[in-house]
Amino acid sequence: MNTIVISTDCLSEAAKLIQQGETVVFPTETVYGLGADAFNPDGVLKIFQAKNRPADNPLIVHVSSLSMIEEVSSDFNETAKTIASHFMPGPITLVLKKSDCICDAVSAGLSTVGVRFPKHPVAQELITKSGTPIAAPSANISGSVSATTFSDVYRDLNGRVAGIVQGDDCEFGIESTVLDVTGDTPVILRPGSVTLEMLQAVIPTTRLHPSLVAGTKVEKPASPGMKYTHYSPKAEVFLVTGEMNNIISHFENHLKDSECLFLFLEEYDSFSKNKMCLGTKSDLNQMAHLIFRLLKQADLDGYQTIYIPAVAEEGVGLSVMNRLKKSSGGKVLSL
Ligand code: TXA
Ligand code: MG
Repeated sequence: MNTIVISTDCLSEAAKLIQQGETVVFPTETVYGLGADAFNPDGVLKIFQAKNRPADNPLIVHVSSLSMIEEVSSDFNETAKTIASHFMPGPITLVLKKSDCICDAVSAGLSTVGVRFPKHPVAQELITKSGTPIAAPSANISGSVSATTFSDVYRDLNGRVAGIVQGDDCEFGIESTVLDVTGDTPVILRPGSVTLEMLQAVIPTTRLHPSLVAGTKVEKPASPGMKYTHYSPKAEVFLVTGEMNNIISHFENHLKDSECLFLFLEEYDSFSKNKMCLGTKSDLNQMAHLIFRLLKQADLDGYQTIYIPAVAEEGVGLSVMNRLKKSSGGKVLSL
């Protein structure tokens, strides 16, 4: 397929493709999305084809105003409205009862729909110009690492979609928090940059889905997508635990040419071998912003193995670790 690269000044061109039932990749503040008209089942099908996505994994529907939420959900309830008033537009997705106009291809046959109102101006303008909500998963081949820069998304999806909007690097760098607000208390199905702590400050009963609580065994994944392999670069990933001094001295002796160590700014200069910088450990939003592109860069550089220091699972650290536990398949090196 011929893919057109579209500049952010020419979003009418991208909107035209959406209206014609084609697929368009566009930037959001979390990761790039691979969008199509949420009300056009043929367009939606093309999303699944472009990224080899299993059909039982529902798509998030993107809107450009709170009033559009009423179009796609039959129950934009008080809890959802409270959350929306604090965090929308922004990096959060609300799972709500769906309205009849959401087809099975989008909801994967569920009675609910994930709704996101992105704050990125390009995403908002594209939705408004298209005149329809846009269904969009992260713009990557299923199972691989989500794309957060134009060059990464172009490399992954050129030839597989009708258009790619050339935007800037994504601000947050990990996908939105998915929050189920269909029950009595809000439940986080996927942690993101809107953290548990931030949500509890607004609704104190907000909790994590049991599958996200370390050490809890559950039969059902938090959301359909959570059961699939995710965030896997070609290289093998290990999380590393232990004192930073021990980690540095171990890898000074043992890191092979084909291996790379991700490090925080605080230790970066003291290490002399293959390394990539995660930003400062005093602000894990920097790690979130960088992590996917560094995983992709390590693949491009030909590394076979990536070692990444584990971080405390609180705040955005919980969200980053959620992704990295999947990238590593749970492999941990304790030093
Ligand atoms: O930041 C984001 O959310 C990005 C950008 C493009 O908006 N989108 C994204 O979509 O990450 P995707 O498809 O890669 O991940 C959506 C996740 C999946 O795990 C899916 O199973 C879950 O949300 N999900 C979607 N609809 C759901 C629903 N109705 N109930 C439960 N989980 C749902
Ligand atoms: Mg995804």
